[in-house]
Amino acid sequence: MSRNYIDRAMASYKKPRIRDGAVRRFLFVVSLTLAGVLLLFYLVGTNSGSELLKENSIEFDSSSGVSSNVSGLFESIKLPKHNYLSKMLEKMNQLPPRNMDLYPNLAKDRIVIVLYVHNRPQYLKLVVDSLSRVSGINETLLIVSHDGYFESMNKIVEGIKFCQVKQVFAPYSPHIFSNSFPGVSPNDCKEKDDPIEKNCEGSTDQYGNHRSPKIVSLKHHWWWMMNTVWDGLKETIGHSGDVLFIEEDHFIFPNAYQNLKILTELKPTKCPDCYAANLAPSNVKSRGEGWDSLIAERMGNVGYTFNRTVWRKIHRKAKEFCFFDDYNWDITMWVTVYPSFGGSVYSMRGPRASAVHFGKCGLHQGQGENAACVDNGVAKIDTEEIDKVANIKPEWGVHVFRNQDGYQAGFRGWGGWGDKRDHQLCLDFAKMYHLRRKASAA
Ligand SMILES: *[C@@H]1O[C@H](CO)[C@@H](O)[C@H](O)[C@H]1NC(C)=O
Ligand SMILES: *[C@@H]1O[C@H](CO)[C@@H](O)[C@H](O)[C@H]1NC(C)=O
Ligand SMILES: *[C@@H]1O[C@H](CO)[C@@H](O)[C@H](O)[C@H]1NC(C)=O
Repeated sequence: MSRNYIDRAMASYKKPRIRDGAVRRFLFVVSLTLAGVLLLFYLVGTNSGSELLKENSIEFDSSSGVSSNVSGLFESIKLPKHNYLSKMLEKMNQLPPRNMDLYPNLAKDRIVIVLYVHNRPQYLKLVVDSLSRVSGINETLLIVSHDGYFESMNKIVEGIKFCQVKQVFAPYSPHIFSNSFPGVSPNDCKEKDDPIEKNCEGSTDQYGNHRSPKIVSLKHHWWWMMNTVWDGLKETIGHSGDVLFIEEDHFIFPNAYQNLKILTELKPTKCPDCYAANLAPSNVKSRGEGWDSLIAERMGNVGYTFNRTVWRKIHRKAKEFCFFDDYNWDITMWVTVYPSFGGSVYSMRGPRASAVHFGKCGLHQGQGENAACVDNGVAKIDTEEIDKVANIKPEWGVHVFRNQDGYQAGFRGWGGWGDKRDHQLCLDFAKMYHLRRKASAA
């Protein structure tokens, strides 16, 4: 792997070296003492943990199964120990967006765009190319969230000149850890091993299978990305508007951003029950009905857009999300999280798709160096005139699709998500920024 990007990123973190070992030891003792004193002040000055939580964290909800007892919280967060690369990634995530010189002012009512990707550069090129033609994108911030670190993916993102762009890297992506959890560790049970008989580590899913790091990666990344975008980045932590989420195999039409602006503005009056807006029908094969009408239907996973109020509702269901034995984040949301809101969770969209899912390779085929799925992203997507300008009319009514096919209540998931370590990591992602906030506020 080229260390170019990392070196550049790290240059700003280099601290002047203290040569003298004795001075260094002395400073170490001093800072240790200071830290102890500070901790004491902190503990003494705090009457109760839950009060501290209310003051310093944003709506931290104790009913989500997260203890409201501070010492308990510190004990219960067990993020994997960093390695060299994961530590670098954490630091790179703090870097400011690129292109701030070209686009110094973001629009007040911007819709932030989050593009989450793994390692299919041939797809990412197409998506970025489509985004470059999206009208209005220059007023907002694009965040690219990487599931791990891939030089060929970085190159594409570094070439973006059409808006402010910030890269974040999931530091706990399994492929960042070559011989320990969340990657494969030597003592891991495989397939249907019996942990007692084989003296190995791991707990199976409901179908008796042990974890596969490649398979759990995607759900972990999605959850890490959601928590990071809403609660962990200084660029978005104060963002009160909507955020649009897209993936590396979504082609975005030029009118997507303008249409979305119209949809989010109309939503409160046209569809007060809608939690989100979508760029495309929930049936990914459909390009829309072409009617003179808005559509409300179950939330799809192409171009879904929602605000912080909805995120807080989702975050409160961290336990449901993290314990449901299905490795698909979207099925987990449909089967456990949305139904727990009570009532139907609708999303509003236009009658014609402003984004399409392309590509034949599943994500899991795209992973792994040897098993790379190659279709060269030859998806040919025609952009017609009607897809170039906003095409949603404020005077339209709303057609609601009720009782759409989906997973029935009682569906227990496709499995692949049974290891207790994955459950813990997932819960830790939901807590990490809330703890950090309190710790730094002390
Ligand atoms: C806080 O949580 C820890 C760990 O769960 C527990 O051992 C401790 O008794 C709790 N303290 C209080 C005051 O509830
Ligand atoms: C964005 O692009 C449009 C059209 O090219 C242009 O009129 C506008 O001034 C640009 N806005 C910013 C903030 O760069
Ligand atoms: C966020 O979206 C929800 C659902 O559409 C809406 O009820 C709520 O008022 C919105 N919150 C803000 C702050 O705009």
